[in-house]
Amino acid sequence: MNILVTGGAGFIGSNFLLLSVPRRTDHTFINVDALTYAANLKNLVAIEGRPNYVFERADIADADAVMALFDKYGPELVVHFAAESHVDRSIKGPRAFLRANVEGTYNLLEACRATWSPGHGLFHHVSTDEVFGSLGPTGYFTEQTPYDPSSPYSASKAASDHLVRAWIRTFGLRAKITNCSNNYGPFQFPEKLIPLMIANLLERKPLPVYGKGENVRSWLYVTDHCEAIWAVIENGRPGETYNIGGGNELRNIDVIHQLIRIVAEETGAERAELERLITYVTDRPGHDLRYAIDATKIRTELGWVPKESFETGLRKTVRWYLANKAWSDEVRSGEYRTWIEQNYGAR
Ligand code: NAD
Ligand code: DAU
Repeated sequence: MNILVTGGAGFIGSNFLLLSVPRRTDHTFINVDALTYAANLKNLVAIEGRPNYVFERADIADADAVMALFDKYGPELVVHFAAESHVDRSIKGPRAFLRANVEGTYNLLEACRATWSPGHGLFHHVSTDEVFGSLGPTGYFTEQTPYDPSSPYSASKAASDHLVRAWIRTFGLRAKITNCSNNYGPFQFPEKLIPLMIANLLERKPLPVYGKGENVRSWLYVTDHCEAIWAVIENGRPGETYNIGGGNELRNIDVIHQLIRIVAEETGAERAELERLITYVTDRPGHDLRYAIDATKIRTELGWVPKESFETGLRKTVRWYLANKAWSDEVRSGEYRTWIEQNYGAR
């Protein structure tokens, strides 16, 4: 079977391909990625040259390019990761998010509709818990929680989820949606909280904490997310949504304290020196207070449970960034650097 994976050069897509291509040699994986600032083909050196892996540079917002890929490869499964993914960027410039996340998803859905007869093919839509908006101090997001997105990013992802559901109901598309909590792990672009803090700790730069650092996120190691996606692809019910989360609900400031402890242990740095880098900065506009996932459905229906605890996953992640400083330095140079200077100034 040909499997079209969009956004396979990004953080989660790379981890998905690195996990899947060597193990599932009866399938050919076509990685379709526009190679935005967030992509890095070097993530994929371990699978480059494998007979069941192909890379195609294409923008999913280009309908003709998408259709040409469907004509060329006739995929029976689409795993759709490609998106503009960073909330802060969506606040500075929402348009790119509408283009990639809404128009891009629309083009893929239309290509599936044009290609697959009813009941054939499967579109797996990778989405986020941010579509549900913010929780107060208690409660959890279930699959029934109403959508209430706060940022341009989450609104664009909510729109894409709605499009997928509309194509399921109106056109009989075979599709499944997963809404996952915050991921962390190898190859994550150092604009997101955990890799940014690791990079700054290693360079003894300030650790910018938004507001009071009391916002809560629920953390999942990236390969646990990838395994959950496979569980849903293989055994989830078509037309259904599954929430994915690892339960590790932590205030941002507590994540940073844990990172400081692990970086100190792994590098021999003095913990107090690292703690002094914590710098409280202006809060993110529309900053969601708390995310927490109720993963009962995926656990009870499909038997999926995460393998990594936050402690083991975070230590693995710190070790990966320590061993791959060159990767981190490279992605933080060039276009990303310019953007950071323009948008974040001296922070
Ligand atoms: P990322 O920003 O690291 O990677 C996104 C990838 O998509 C990049 O390789 C980029 O080049 C590609 N891309 C962007 N626009 C494109 C376009 N128009 N055409 C083709 N390719 C394009 O993102 P990520 O963190 O790996 O997230 C992947 C998916 O998972 C996204 O849909 C995101 O909404 C979702 N998600 C992410 C998290 C998280 O914590 N990172 C959690 C839940 C869900
Ligand atoms: O919940 C899933 C979502 O998680 C995904 O859909 C998004 O693609 C992904 O980017 C992530 O969104 P967040 O906004 O939660 O992630 P981010 O790493 O940007 O921020 C995590 C928390 O840390 C958030 O409360 C904001 C805070 N933060 C972030 C940065 C970058 C800081 O305090 N300082 C920072 O410098």
